[in-house]
Amino acid sequence: MEKIYYTYQDITNLIENNVSKIKEYNPDYIIAIGGGGLIPARIIRNYIDKPIYVVTLSLYDECEKKNEINVIQWVDLDLKDKKVVIIDEVDDTRQTMDYCIQRLKLVNNANNIGVFVLHNKLKSKVGDLSNINYMSCTEIDDKWIVYPWDK
Ligand code: G4P
Ligand code: MG
Repeated sequence: MEKIYYTYQDITNLIENNVSKIKEYNPDYIIAIGGGGLIPARIIRNYIDKPIYVVTLSLYDECEKKNEINVIQWVDLDLKDKKVVIIDEVDDTRQTMDYCIQRLKLVNNANNIGVFVLHNKLKSKVGDLSNINYMSCTEIDDKWIVYPWDK
């Protein structure tokens, strides 16, 4: 698969040029999806001074458990009547993101959820983003993005 490379400066510029979308949404909390959402969330906090919470999810890769999601860490927060913005680096298949949204609704009573990603890959997606305030910095063809924090 073709690769596209981003520097830290590119990432900072992307955020700087799009962070007004989150400011307008005005969330109470930032929820970073580990690991890819961690560095973007920290940069975003330079512009929006709200607490960062972290959830970590991973897609199982073993044959018999393919496409199941493993919750490595979750948050103990009551989000009723709170606004949250979920931060991740990339909206790819949307499977992890969709799981995160559904779990925040079910476990944390979230009913006002925004999503902010650096890259939205133009491809078919799973899940349901109805009633979600969706914000992406840029749309990109289905290429493999190499982030500055990747090896
Ligand atoms: P999505 O809901 O955000 O679309 O994620 P999806 O489940 O489709 O993606 C599975 C994993 O693949 C995620 O990592 C996602 O960050 C990663 N991924 C997808 N496309 C790219 C890409 O172009 N470049 C890079 N570097 N990663 C990509 P994860 O399991 O959350 O791991 P982590 O690396 O964020 O810790
Ligand atoms: Mg990720």
